[in-house]
Amino acid sequence: MSGIVGYIGKRNAQPILLDCLDQLDYRGYDSAGIAISTGTSIEKRRAVGRVKDLRTHILREPIPAGTIGIGHTRWATHGTPSEQNSHPLSGCDHRYLVVHNGIIENYTALKRGLKKSGHTFRTDTDTEVIPHLLEEHDTGDFESTVRAVLPLLKGSFALAIMSQQHPQTIVAISQDNPLVIGFGKGETFLASDIPALLPYTREIYPIKNGEIAILTPGKVQLTSVDGEAIEPKRMRVEWDKQDVQFQDYEHYMLKEIFEQTKAAEETLAGRLTSSGIHLPELEAAWSKERVQQLKKIDIVASGTSYHAGMIGRKVLEQLLQLPVHVSYSSEFRDDHPPLDEDSLIVVLSQSGETADTLSALREGKRLKCPTIAITNTVGSTISRKADSTIYTKAGPELAVASTKAYTSQLTAIMLLALWLKEQREGLEEEITLSLLQSLARLPGDIDSTLIMTKDAIDQFAQVTFDQEHLFLIGRGLDYVLALEGALKLQEVAYIHADAYAAGEMKHGTMALITPGVPVIALATQHHVLDKVISNIREVKARDAFVIGITTTGDELLVEEVDQVLYIPETHPYLMPILAVIPLQLLAYYSGIVRDHDVDRPRNLAKSLTVE
Ligand code: G6P
Repeated sequence: MSGIVGYIGKRNAQPILLDCLDQLDYRGYDSAGIAISTGTSIEKRRAVGRVKDLRTHILREPIPAGTIGIGHTRWATHGTPSEQNSHPLSGCDHRYLVVHNGIIENYTALKRGLKKSGHTFRTDTDTEVIPHLLEEHDTGDFESTVRAVLPLLKGSFALAIMSQQHPQTIVAISQDNPLVIGFGKGETFLASDIPALLPYTREIYPIKNGEIAILTPGKVQLTSVDGEAIEPKRMRVEWDKQDVQFQDYEHYMLKEIFEQTKAAEETLAGRLTSSGIHLPELEAAWSKERVQQLKKIDIVASGTSYHAGMIGRKVLEQLLQLPVHVSYSSEFRDDHPPLDEDSLIVVLSQSGETADTLSALREGKRLKCPTIAITNTVGSTISRKADSTIYTKAGPELAVASTKAYTSQLTAIMLLALWLKEQREGLEEEITLSLLQSLARLPGDIDSTLIMTKDAIDQFAQVTFDQEHLFLIGRGLDYVLALEGALKLQEVAYIHADAYAAGEMKHGTMALITPGVPVIALATQHHVLDKVISNIREVKARDAFVIGITTTGDELLVEEVDQVLYIPETHPYLMPILAVIPLQLLAYYSGIVRDHDVDRPRNLAKSLTVE
């Protein structure tokens, strides 16, 4: 899982490629490399570590200037993060240079065959078979050589390829893995993801499966596998280059936490109206009768999006009185509940490219289930494959740990739940009317939560500096919230944080409670407050240090805990959107106080396009 970039134009390619790689390094930061064509020959430089390490390497060993090039930032899957395994990769005679994102599933068999034909391998990567295959099947014509090799590759891959024999050309392919063309004035860009292109252009075209793009100076030629010419239908993205800058923040994560007010506002805009929920993206595809026929809903997602799905399950189930399942995408693909044409599949994905979620979506479509995607990325593979898409309007999320995408997903799920309810039985019930009113106040409540919690959480993070373990407990929606809070602390602060359904502690986990261990007790669901208080007493009796999170006006919790943090009160379904904010801030400040790279946590990557 990696990031690919490419440039072909009149400007010096090196700074552009490095800049685009900087924007993409949330996709992997184990090593980086570029190859640049002078117009007659191609040279490459590679370095272990991040793009800044590649820059240092290039300062020591400058690369000749050129206006055409490709680049890569790697998240190691096959082979350790070494310079040898870094892309661009070449074969025996360095004729071809390849950058690759994805996995070549049949590489072992291909490697065996190539070795028999005399090819010598230098890396442990799956990718290396590609330049060797290109040498093996070289027809002298770049495009036809690539066409001869493509059918031999199994798996998912995005590729950008250069050839020493054709140093004015880049060939780009996207097979179940994203690769986007960016159109500038007299110049063309390639990138795995849109944010890398925003400083240069907002005119894009995501290459589709089976298409081959041939980039030459001033020209983009797109053809199908059968060689038929295709006119790339350009899209204009709404995101702006401002969105990918730090502005006044030191880290993307903190910036994105503070952008949640705007993200909720934009996600609701035009959709929450005085006459109900307006979702034209669904209205086009769904009749009232079809919605009424639905018998169940399956939500699939990974990581933080899965936690949004867990909240969605409870809300959809209660509002619609339908059975709702939620599954990890990686599990769903091979092991899912019974599905048929009356089972709605809802996939959640910030990137719209997560391979596991894409596979789950395909499985649902294979079984003829209607599908709705909730994603943040216009034109992403998941948005193209689903029957309908509700876009969250969070803007580009660049920190590896997801924050604003999560709260926007929850906002979009509320809209979806209310829209389905409206189609099935109307919105007159008290519970839905109060949810509608609370949704309208959500951006303001998010803002107040940020103001109320920021400083207190910063201080708390300083005192938990030397803690290795932390527990989060809650009941109902607060339990799901605890799971997301624990994930954030694991990702960013590397703390062993675990979440438990508060009532379950006594069945085992209580053995882990030692004097002084921090426990965060989430008490935002008032109908279970008494029970949560009993559970807090149980851990207090074992001398845990308990921090309670509750809503303003609650006078009970303060009596029970060591420290209390208040957040505004809203509809219980929306409390996870507000209450996650102090947990996100805690993860951020705990990461900072431990001196971690909070935007690029070790071993992780943002958009996982491998299964
Ligand atoms: C990775 C990221 C997580 C994210 C998950 C799902 O693991 O590090 O932050 O929640 O992928 O990503 P998606 O783009 O499908 O929401």
